[in-house]
Amino acid sequence: MRKGTCNTCHVPDNPEKMKRLVLLQTPAHAAAEIKRMMAAVRDNRMPLDDIGIEKELDAETKALLLRFGAAFESTVNAAYAWESGD
Ligand code: HEC
Repeated sequence: MRKGTCNTCHVPDNPEKMKRLVLLQTPAHAAAEIKRMMAAVRDNRMPLDDIGIEKELDAETKALLLRFGAAFESTVNAAYAWESGD
């Protein structure tokens, strides 16, 4: 995520003045956003550059984000399933 520059914008001081501040740093925040994060990275909507235009991720960073993101997402889903007793 550092290589993807996500944390220059998705931080508590909200430099981009997002209407809905998306935080990704803690497991709880990340768990709530993982679906949207995967979609945003997969569809090349994130990261943005400093004038707010989509910025291309290098292939390796994108692949790693999606790989670890998928592992995290399936863990989160397993936790939800466990909580709901399924
Ligand atoms: C230059 C600033 C900037 C960077 C860098 C950036 N974002 Fe964002 N992000 C935004 C802004 C502004 C929004 C809210 C506006 C929008 O939805 O386009 C947003 C919205 C999002 C959302 C919510 C979109 C939705 O579907 O609800 C996700 C998820 C997200 N960013 C993930 C990421 C990830 C992952 C990275 C790194 C790979 C990243 N962002 C890098 C500025 C940034």
